[in-house]
Order: sequence, then C-alpha cells, then structure tokens
Amino acid sequence: MTSLRVLAVASEIYPIVKTGGLADVVGSLPVALGSCGIETRTLVPGYPDVIKALPTAEVLLHWPHFRGGPIRLLGGSLGDLDLLVLDAPHLFARPGNPYVAPDGKDWPDNGVRFAALSRMAAEIGQGAVRSFVPDIVHAHDWQAGLAPAYLHYANGPRPCTVMTVHNMVYQGKFPHEMLHTFGLPPESFTIHGVEYYGMISFLKAGLQFADRITTVSPTYAIEIQGDEGGMGLGGLLRERSQVLSGILNGIDTSVWNPETDPHIAARFSAKELESRAANRAALQRRLGLDPSTDALLLGVISRLSWQKGLDLLLENVPTIVNEGMQLALLGSGDPDLENRFQAVAKANAGRLAVLIGYDEALAHLIQAGADALVVPSRFEPCGLTQLCALRYGGVPIVSRVGGLADTVVDANEADIAGSAATGFKFGPVTGETLAGALRRASNSFHDKQVWRKLQLNGISTDVSWCNRASQYAALYHDVVTARRNQAH
Ligand code: ADP
Ligand code: GLC
Repeated sequence: MTSLRVLAVASEIYPIVKTGGLADVVGSLPVALGSCGIETRTLVPGYPDVIKALPTAEVLLHWPHFRGGPIRLLGGSLGDLDLLVLDAPHLFARPGNPYVAPDGKDWPDNGVRFAALSRMAAEIGQGAVRSFVPDIVHAHDWQAGLAPAYLHYANGPRPCTVMTVHNMVYQGKFPHEMLHTFGLPPESFTIHGVEYYGMISFLKAGLQFADRITTVSPTYAIEIQGDEGGMGLGGLLRERSQVLSGILNGIDTSVWNPETDPHIAARFSAKELESRAANRAALQRRLGLDPSTDALLLGVISRLSWQKGLDLLLENVPTIVNEGMQLALLGSGDPDLENRFQAVAKANAGRLAVLIGYDEALAHLIQAGADALVVPSRFEPCGLTQLCALRYGGVPIVSRVGGLADTVVDANEADIAGSAATGFKFGPVTGETLAGALRRASNSFHDKQVWRKLQLNGISTDVSWCNRASQYAALYHDVVTARRNQAH
C-alpha cells in the first residue's frame, strides 16, 4: 500500500498536556500508525508547556494577523511524535488546565481559541506548509470539530476528513452571534450545518461535514445513534451511520509495561505474577491501608464525574466494608464526590483510602498492586484504565457499557476453566448490580486458581495499538480511495 499523510488535530497530547484519555490516544496512536505506513503529524495548541517541550522547533509559518493576533506555526518532534504547534500567545499562552481559567470557569474565549486551531488545520490541509500537505485531516473531539466544516466550505483542492468523537458529552456550543467571528459562512447556520438548537456546535459541525466519523469502541458507535447516548446528536448519527464506525483504543504498551515500569515497587510479568504481591503491600503502606493479604483490594483511577458512576461505589461502601474488601481510590473532579469519598475514607481508615488529585506514578502503583479495578461508568466511550488493568494482572469490574463492554469478558458468560474470562461486568448500571459484581469478584478472589486464570487471561489480552492502528490505516485508505473514485 502507498503511504498516506495524516494531520491529526487535538487539544491535548500525552506526555505534555493531559486531562483525560484523549491525550493518551493522541500521544500514542501516531507511533503505531507509523508501522502501518501512515505518516502522522499532530497539530496542537501552543500552551506554555508545549512551547517549552520543543526548544528547537522550526518556524514554518509566521503570520502577523490570525484570529486576533500574530501567530507562528512551529514544527518539531518529541520522542517519536511529530508535532505542529499553533503558537498564538493571545490564545494559548496560559498556564494550567487547557480549558479552564483560574476562577474554575471555562475560558470565555474557548470558542475563538479552538476555532483558530481548527482553522489552522484547514489551512495546513490546503497546503499552507509546503513540506507537509496531508491526504487526510483527522479531527479529535469538539475542539477540532470546525476543521471539517472549514474544509467543506473551502475552495480548491482539499484533503479527506475524519472526525473522531471521544465523548458525546462535550459538544463545544457557542452563541450564534459568533458565526462571523468563527469565519463560518451564513449558509452554514442550518440544521444540516453547524446549527444546534439555536447555537453553534463544533462537534456537530465535525460530525456533519467529515467524510468519515469514528468513535472509540464498536458498542459506543451503536449507543450514540440512540436518543440517550447521542446526547442530542443521535438523529444526525443515524442519518450518517453508513460512514460511522467504532475502533477500540489501545494503550501505549511501553508506558504501561509491568516488566519495566519505573513507578512500581516490584516489576513483574505473567511468569512471575507472585511479584505483584510486593506492589500490593507497597500500595497498602503508601495509602495507610491494613496490610491484609486476603482482603480483595479494589482500585479506582478516575475523573470524578457523573459519567464515571462513582456515586454508585459510594452507595456500596457498606458492601465493601462488610464483605472485608479494601479500596484505594485516586481521582479528582466534582467537589461533592471528592468530599464524600474523603468522608468515607476518614470513617473507615485502614479499609478505604482516598487520594484526591492527579498522580501519574500512583496510578501505575494502583494498577500494579490492586487486585481488581472498578469502573462503574454510566457510559464509557472506550475507557483506558481497564485496559491497563488487564495488562497489569488486575481484574476489571466494569459496567456493561461502551468500550467497557467490548474489552472485558465476563466470568459468568464463559466457563472459567477453559475460557477467556477476564473480569466482571454488570448492568443495568445501578448500585445493586454493582454490589452483585463486587460480591462475585470477592468470591472468585478467594478461589486462587480461578483468580489466577482471570489474571493470566487478562495479561494475554491484546490491548496494544497494533491491530487497532491498522483499522485506522484501512479507514484512511478507504476514504482516500472513495474520494479518488468520486473524482473520476
Ligand atoms: P477519561 O478520558 O474519560 O477520563 P479514560 O479511561 O479514557 O477516561 O482515560 C483516563 C486516563 O487518565 C487514564 O490514562 C488514567 O490513568 C488517567 N487518570 C485519570 N485520573 C487520574 C488521576 N487522578 N491521576 C492519574 N491519572 C489519572
Ligand atoms: C474520553 C472517554 C474515554 C475514552 C477517552 C479516549 O475521554 O471518556 O472513554 O477512553 O476519551 O478515547
């Protein structure tokens, strides 16, 4: 196959700036695509940390006026990643969270900021950087959603476009008065354009105008065509179902590798799973949990938001305590959930440990030391933590939704002895069904042979990007071929 050039566009990228799994995906997929003959460069905003990470970047463009100020487009590499950086100090020279101001509210000019990112993607798509003219512009989430719209309305040759939705909740909605400021033509403000209940929706723009739409698991691709999962855009997605598909996320198996992980107490592999015990003990010590070896130690690493269903875990504190389990939770987000988790930890010292914050090293130790990882999400486009758990010999306990349903094989749905079971799934998503799954896990935990089988099945599950990147590569080839055939 001939090689293709892809411009990925995203508002965050691991390891420089990350608020969630989007950054992990954007920071690891391009490397895997490289092995499939796809050359990817990723356009990201020039936040201070990004500029700092690329001290020797080359200046590719220098424009005195672009969306309210002078900008430069920088090109540089970080490890195996090739980056293009929109250095627009008036939009992005702000430290901290990429979307939220120090007062805790979204930056008031987020629309202008990410419209500028998308516009630059469209400019590159149409040849603004002579050394890199992409065949495809691949937009991730609402922040890049206007790129397919700009390219749809552009004159002259344009690349193919792919829109990937990582989460339907975040739609990037702005007042219709901004249409002109965003540089969108008046005719785009219709139900078949960027209009969404009287506002402009960046995500809708991307879903409407991209040549192909993907999301991050096959089950989520079905869920978002429904009224509930579609979050207002289900009808549009049903209409465009011919061009919509779900491709599972992978994880970076060099960052998440229990044999080399620098953050854990003892490295291990499938052959020496016993070494996990040292991580378990280190985790208990670190978090002040009792040093029990026969309590099922549950781990959670999560944003604390309604999506993640962790209020259902709070409902289950009596189950956890009465059934002799332990909990190690690392998370941050909704202040009410933060307070409630801290309160139950205080009331159950030694049994429940809660760390509020963002801590990459501790996340690795939890993956290496917890017996089971709980992900009780109400919806989950893909989810990455259950993939890391599988790789680290942790047994996932997950709700049967989205990518969680697609990546975990339930112990009841298969006969364990000879089967591929890797964890426990529950549904519908309620406190009661979660309690049932916790109890089932606890019972299996006390049968060492069964537990070992679950762990080994998990470790041998392919959670890498390898196969999944080739699905993106096939999609890219498909969309480019379809365009060529249309032209002839
Ligand atoms: P989402 O993107 O919806 O937050 P994912 O499971 O796709 O969920 O990705 C979450 C990513 O963020 C994972 O890499 C996970 O390890 C990481 N993460 C989440 N919360 C924390 C935290 N408090 N500390 C460290 N890492 C975290
Ligand atoms: C979103 C989703 C999560 C997914 C991640 C990366 O943040 O909530 O399920 O794994 O994007 O695609």
